[in-house]
Amino acid sequence: MANNRTFTMLKPDSVEKGNIGPILEKITSSGFRIVAMKLTQLTTADAEAFYDIHKERPFFGDLVTYMTRGPIVAAILEKDNAVEDFRALIGATNPAEAADGTIRNMFADSISENAVHGSDSDENAAIEGAFHFSGREMF
Ligand code: RTP
Ligand code: MG
Repeated sequence: MANNRTFTMLKPDSVEKGNIGPILEKITSSGFRIVAMKLTQLTTADAEAFYDIHKERPFFGDLVTYMTRGPIVAAILEKDNAVEDFRALIGATNPAEAADGTIRNMFADSISENAVHGSDSDENAAIEGAFHFSGREMF
């Protein structure tokens, strides 16, 4: 995947609260182009692998339960400087610390249930995007 792309998930809380539309509007009006998107659900194995870096953390079990409890929206987004600019758009992990106007400030309830994921590097964006989408699903 090109370096001007990032991967996102609208997490189960966003889907449950009916926030798919408002969050996608925020993303596209901030200059990101959707180049792949689907409604899907992570299995326990998927979530454990996705967040493997956190497996020793005390919140790991709750994180896996949260991320698998319902559907998510997975998407690949395109923009210059996509990874960094999208992390800025979503705001800090803890919504209480997320700047005004960021997605987590607007749509997240807590550090555990924080509305959206954004890849943290070009390398991980490519891995995460390829996990969810085949080449013919990316535009
Ligand atoms: P993400 O990977 O989902 O984009 O989030 P992030 O980089 O901002 O944060 P990270 O440190 O990678 O944490 C992954 C997810 O774990 C949950 N979490 N819970 N209870 C807690 O203290 C805690 N800390 C993190 C959040 O869902 C966070 O996004
Ligand atoms: Mg992370």
